[in-house]
Amino acid sequence: MLKLKFTERTDTRFGTVNWDKLGFGRYFADYMFVADYKDGKWDEGQILPYGTMEIEPAMMTLHYGQTIFEGLKAYYTVDGNANCFRPDMNAKRLNVSATKLVMPQFPEEQFIQAIQEVVYYNRKFIPQKRGESLYLRPVMFGSSNLLGVAPSVEYKLIIFASPVASYYEEGLNPIKIGVSDNHVRAVRGGLGSAKTAANYAASLYGGMEAKKKGYSQVLWLDGVNLSNVDEVGAMNIMFVVNNEIYTPTLDTGTILAGVTRNSVLKIAEHLGIKSHEKVLSLNEILTALNEGEMTEAFGTGTAATISPVGALSYKDKEYILNEGKIGEISQKMYDTLLGIQYGEIEDPFGWTIKVNL
Ligand code: COI
Repeated sequence: MLKLKFTERTDTRFGTVNWDKLGFGRYFADYMFVADYKDGKWDEGQILPYGTMEIEPAMMTLHYGQTIFEGLKAYYTVDGNANCFRPDMNAKRLNVSATKLVMPQFPEEQFIQAIQEVVYYNRKFIPQKRGESLYLRPVMFGSSNLLGVAPSVEYKLIIFASPVASYYEEGLNPIKIGVSDNHVRAVRGGLGSAKTAANYAASLYGGMEAKKKGYSQVLWLDGVNLSNVDEVGAMNIMFVVNNEIYTPTLDTGTILAGVTRNSVLKIAEHLGIKSHEKVLSLNEILTALNEGEMTEAFGTGTAATISPVGALSYKDKEYILNEGKIGEISQKMYDTLLGIQYGEIEDPFGWTIKVNL
């Protein structure tokens, strides 16, 4: 299984980790994968000790933002090995983002091999508690040093790892989200469907304002008319109305094609729960809430997993969902998804790639 050049470190970062309070993305495991793109091609990459890197102030990414990333997880399974969850989807999405930002494609097979090796070399950093996992963060950026506005000619792809617990402090307890009616995350024709830093930068100001009002996240509306629901930035959004799932369509190009979003829609189909991907106006959502037809809402994301929404606020009016408790469909999705990820239930979709530890 191991094919890549490996440089062993003499120390370990293991002792820096507070295993009782992992939080999200605070600790970084011993090894990372690094590949370089030069003269029109990627090298085969290698496994190096995780650590600092030298950059020049003129490095183009710092100025013009040509950077894309991914997020996926490896789970410690009941048989003492690790499951990587749908890394092929991340490989594909990385290349979709790369196309949008005029960056080179990274071969899918090489990506999946690198993921497996990063998991293997960092095996002692995979948490064993349910609900915790080894989060993998691939990041690609333009590394040329030039000041003209143009695509970089050299790139780096790094994949590093972080042992994580839940993304939100609330864990599986419902979060409160606020609809932003003055900031936008993405616009039609822009970068909304790419997993690129710009979208997260655009979300910070609105996110800060929402936090001041007591909301953990912002529900973003479309950037043109502020009338249709897009996504939550750190996750996609799903609403349950009359026991059917409704989620914004990807056709607008302003929403990230979430791997968990796709997985939930497939699980729903498998369980016989009807789902709809369509343009959803905020009006429809608020009407369904007012009329008591909407019984649940939840976010889906790799970091966020399934995150029930207990309250939604718009223009200072707060709508409570399912008395602020997790709903039946959200719980079912959480149980099925995590069951597959931790190898507790059969994976009828062939989603997991096993790494023997
Ligand atoms: C993920 O879910 O993996 C993400 O990249 C979201 C990020 C905001 C943590």
